[in-house]
Amino acid sequence: FNISQFQQDLINWFKENQRTLPWRENKDPYRVWVSEIMLQQTRVDTVIPYYLNFMREFPTLEDLAYAEEDRILKAWEGLGYYSRVRNLQTAVREVVEEYNAAVPDTLKEISALKGVGPYTAGAILSIAYAKPEPAVDGNVMRVLSRVLEIDEDIAKAKTRKTFEAIIYDLISKEDPSSFNQGLMELGALICTPTSPGCLLCPVREHCMAYNKGIQDTLPVKSKK
Ligand code: ADE
Repeated sequence: FNISQFQQDLINWFKENQRTLPWRENKDPYRVWVSEIMLQQTRVDTVIPYYLNFMREFPTLEDLAYAEEDRILKAWEGLGYYSRVRNLQTAVREVVEEYNAAVPDTLKEISALKGVGPYTAGAILSIAYAKPEPAVDGNVMRVLSRVLEIDEDIAKAKTRKTFEAIIYDLISKEDPSSFNQGLMELGALICTPTSPGCLLCPVREHCMAYNKGIQDTLPVKSKK
């Protein structure tokens, strides 16, 4: 397994094939943060119009920090899981007060913010700040379980740490943003849960599951 070749194939594919999505217009950490919170329990197609509206209503972190709660709940109406946006406002208020309205760029500080779990922390640090931090969600576990033939149960909470440890070794230090988003995009477009499109896959020559023809048997995911 050639790590730098894998990184390069993934990143080149991402740069050429990524979807045009509103949160990819720039790397403002606040915009990345809002998108990742919305995308946690909601599909990309559903999120897009909510995201555009939210950014029109609350263009900056300070706009959100000072907004009335009923306005933010209204902007979230239909997305569900309202604690997400309540926690987000609590957290951006903390950023205004503790960090002079600049989203912190260390894992320790960012992880201490309300509603920012390991996935969100890694996504913001890698995408907005180019820090080589893993951002492991279900899509990323599916892709890497196939590429590296990992048979740990992805339904188990502790399995995320296994993937984080692997990604620390695997992630591109030159372009962690494209690397992490490339894994997400590959999971969304090619390395799908059923019938993955291996013949179109930019990293299939690196993929242990594809090379054994067992891509349909991974990831292992127990019913809970
Ligand atoms: N799902 C989670 N984060 C995403 C992102 N940044 N782009 C596309 N899909 C995602």
